Amino acid sequence: MKISKVLSLCAISATVLFGANNLVDKVKQSGMEAIPNSQLEVLKLIDDPKDPITDAKVELGKKLYFDPRMSKSALISCNTCHNLAIGGVDGIAAAIGHGWTANPAHLNSPRIQLSFL
Ligand code: HEC
Repeated sequence: MKISKVLSLCAISATVLFGANNLVDKVKQSGMEAIPNSQLEVLKLIDDPKDPITDAKVELGKKLYFDPRMSKSALISCNTCHNLAIGGVDGIAAAIGHGWTANPAHLNSPRIQLSFL
């Protein structure tokens, strides 16, 4: 490979890496934070001492996750896209939503892991 090609590849790689850093900075500046890794830290964020998580609420959440009445058409549940039987995904390139339309931003359904299972 010619040295000019190697230099071009280095420049492209640097641009890609620099761009990625800018995106991380933009996300941080917008006030977004990463979801904590530990379940305890997540609970600190979502468990309100004035309205604590109870077993009954967890049971309700389980039922709603699989309930297609959560959608306008009453055909789609959370589990349609985040199918827990196959790892919390739907296995397709762009999620199919209401009216059988593909996600307009071409987003796929990220893996969901539920701690109650
Ligand atoms: C039509 C398909 C579809 C349905 C139905 C759906 N989701 Fe999603 N979900 C997605 C897509 C696509 C994303 C990614 C969105 C993005 O990146 O902006 C997502 C993102 C998420 C995320 C963020 C995951 C992460 O790691 O960032 C969570 C949590 C989630 N969905 C939970 C739910 C729950 C709970 C329901 C039911 C109330 C639900 N989803 C219903 C397609 C779906």
